[in-house]
Amino acid sequence: MDSGKQITFPLMLCVGTAVIGSLQFGYNTGVINAPQKIIENFINDTWVARYQTPISENTLKAIWSIAVAIFSVGGIFGSFSVGVFVNRFGRRNSMLLANVLALISSALMGFSKTASSFEMLIIGRFVVGYYSGLSTGFVPMYVGEVSPTALRGALGTLHQLGIVVGILIAQVFGLEAIMGNRELWPLLLGFIFIPSVMQCILLPCCPESPRFLLINKNEENKAKTVLKKLRGTNDVSADMQEMKEESRQMMREKKVTILELFRSPLYRQPLLVAVVLQLSQQLSGINAVFYYSTSIFEKAGVAQPVYATIGAGVVNTAFTVVSLFVVERAGRRSLHLLGLLGMAGSALLMTIAMALLDQVKWMSYLSIVAIFAFVAFFEIGPGPIPWFIVAELFSQGPRPSAIAVAGFSNWTANFIVGMGFQYLATACGAYVFVIFIVLLLIFFVFTYFKVPETKGRTFDEIASGFRQSAVTGGEKHEELNSLGADSQL
Ligand SMILES: *[C@@H]1O[C@H](CO)[C@@H](O)[C@H](O)[C@H]1NC(C)=O
Repeated sequence: MDSGKQITFPLMLCVGTAVIGSLQFGYNTGVINAPQKIIENFINDTWVARYQTPISENTLKAIWSIAVAIFSVGGIFGSFSVGVFVNRFGRRNSMLLANVLALISSALMGFSKTASSFEMLIIGRFVVGYYSGLSTGFVPMYVGEVSPTALRGALGTLHQLGIVVGILIAQVFGLEAIMGNRELWPLLLGFIFIPSVMQCILLPCCPESPRFLLINKNEENKAKTVLKKLRGTNDVSADMQEMKEESRQMMREKKVTILELFRSPLYRQPLLVAVVLQLSQQLSGINAVFYYSTSIFEKAGVAQPVYATIGAGVVNTAFTVVSLFVVERAGRRSLHLLGLLGMAGSALLMTIAMALLDQVKWMSYLSIVAIFAFVAFFEIGPGPIPWFIVAELFSQGPRPSAIAVAGFSNWTANFIVGMGFQYLATACGAYVFVIFIVLLLIFFVFTYFKVPETKGRTFDEIASGFRQSAVTGGEKHEELNSLGADSQL
């Protein structure tokens, strides 16, 4: 019986339960967008009650920016702790444990108004950022490890889909008529306890990852039992064989630490490419849109900015689905180039719309089109591609370290945008997107000259490409000759 492609009920349950973590990440990315004004009022009121004087414009901006951006500081710490959790507690129990953080954060944010404390809001954002950093490690790992090989790619994309749907849900819930109002905003932020409780109920019904059981715990029988349940068949020898082969491969290749990764000239080029691509994702300005689009639309004269924000969420979700089909087939490099150029064009359109707003009334519609196109092009290239490429540039040995460095770069750039955007927007006015245009063009040039096509190539072929460019660059490294001797997968 060929059950290699069968989606059984236990498999669906596992994947569905895990993806709640992706939803939470997306939800918390999008949730502070619509109710910005209302929460700012709360901060102001609290300030007045405490110090008997209205808050200054600058202090308010600082507090709000911190509340938005500290999420990414949590994310940095979270993404660095993934390894410790998954190897000690296992994949499933790590996800279960992480919910403690989500529940704490929910309480902190949900009761911040009652307690008249914006500090609780800020700490809550940090904690849920930590949770999100963990989730972005846990979910793809668990989903990848419970899925049969033939379905791994398809089910893996559900993580990305979960994130964008989470953003969309947050935007809809943030409507004034739903929870984005003076009374209910604490519930909007605290809402994460519901998915969290759901995940806590469902996770105990999901098995531990068979790969963890076999490779980390060496419990072959347990792994077999789990696999039989997941695959709905008694013959799981092919899966067992594959995992054992993978385990052998891991042992053959020495694990590379982060320090070694930076020291060795062998990895200099691929590491540079990996880091710059992560920066290109975040510094493209995408989170300026996901954190601040409502206030951007407002400045652009859009009558119903919240609906435009929701529109951006819908476009985002739709193009994520489109890219799921495109990414596997088209070349990574071309898609990334296309996405960057398209984003730069959209940002230019946005700038024109904002600059001409006073003269031409319908420019506010152009700004909506520009932001929608901006988001669509993001999901075609800079959204999915950087993660693809990191995994494809590095073989088993250096991969975990490379992913950690990439994750750190990503969250750090996310923080810079979250923290700095409001200040830039005040300083540059209509021309704030010019900064992103310049950055996008720089990333375009870098990608054009430095990023190799990785699709359908082995690590050896990619590595020899880097070797050639290193030689023509006048650097010769003896070590390079032995590059990735058995790194072929
Ligand atoms: C804060 O609230 C007061 C009224 O309590 C208002 O006059 C002031 O403009 C508000 N400050 C800001 C920065 O919104």
